[in-house]
Amino acid sequence: MTINSIGIVGAGTMGNGIAQIVATAGLEVVLIDVTEAALTKGVATLTGNLERLVAKGQLDIHGRDVALSRIDISTDYKRLKNVDLVIEAVAEDLALKSRILQTIETVVSQNAIIASNTSSISITELGSALADPLRFVGMHFFNPVPLLPLVEVISGLKTSVATIESVCALTVRLGKSPISVKNSPGFVVNRILVPMINEAFFALAEGVATADEIDAGMRLGANHPIGPLALADLIGLDVCLSVLDVFEEDFADSKYRACPLLRELVAAGRLGRKVGQGVFLYG
Ligand SMILES: NC(=O)c1ccc[n+]([C@@H]2O[C@H](COP(=O)([O-])OP(=O)(O)OC[C@H]3O[C@@H](n4cnc5c(N)ncnc54)[C@H](O)[C@@H]3O)[C@@H](O)[C@H]2O)c1
Repeated sequence: MTINSIGIVGAGTMGNGIAQIVATAGLEVVLIDVTEAALTKGVATLTGNLERLVAKGQLDIHGRDVALSRIDISTDYKRLKNVDLVIEAVAEDLALKSRILQTIETVVSQNAIIASNTSSISITELGSALADPLRFVGMHFFNPVPLLPLVEVISGLKTSVATIESVCALTVRLGKSPISVKNSPGFVVNRILVPMINEAFFALAEGVATADEIDAGMRLGANHPIGPLALADLIGLDVCLSVLDVFEEDFADSKYRACPLLRELVAAGRLGRKVGQGVFLYG
């Protein structure tokens, strides 16, 4: 199946990034969120990103305007009825996602594919909320979506081969590189990455080094482009915490226990770049 139009539910960090790359790749977008304010904020973010591409000479003004004209925004799920694929990108919460996926299934056509951008929730379990789990798949983009090339394409127990093939082909059309992954907590990248971030919080909490020094250590000693604490701020400390909580429960292994400092910062509302403060302060 060739995918030409994509619905995205959730206009936050991930949803607006996905909307941007889909529109610049020449496909139609329907972007859904609960409030007009969330939609306005999402579109403002992606417009700012497109402006930066224009300033760098990577996109002309006509290209920017055409990309923006391909994005239709709404708070009404019924607007998804003609799209070929819907990507759900709302908060990392099983009950919320299951409810939203069921709503999506009631409005889309029989042939439409339904995907979730979950970082850690089981694709098999999310798929079981649907009447037709064969057409359900994980499509895990990375933050910031316009910059990072990887998409983990995750098959649940019932995902059909045709669904995987269509989504992998689409991913390439979007200029991204898919890897095919079997359903397992955290898939491949977060299973390795998030425990490393958690360990950086333990090192910080124990006073092993300052936040700047921990990050410099991993940048300069392990050749990482960004330190683990700055990366946590970029991902969102709340997102990191919920991923660790899911790992601890799903693997039934205390090695994934979230660092109390991470939990404390989340409780204080220091969620990272998106609120201006996490481990570091952002102007
Ligand atoms: N932030 C990251 O680095 C990252 C990376 C990969 C995957 N993810 C995953 O992507 C998903 C979204 O994360 P995010 O960081 O973009 O979250 P976010 O909080 O920035 O955005 C979530 C959006 O969903 C909207 N929303 C909430 N309820 C809704 C509903 N009923 N209908 C429509 N929209 C609704 C919110 O208004 C908000 O705009 C999560 O599952 C997360 O685990 C996040």
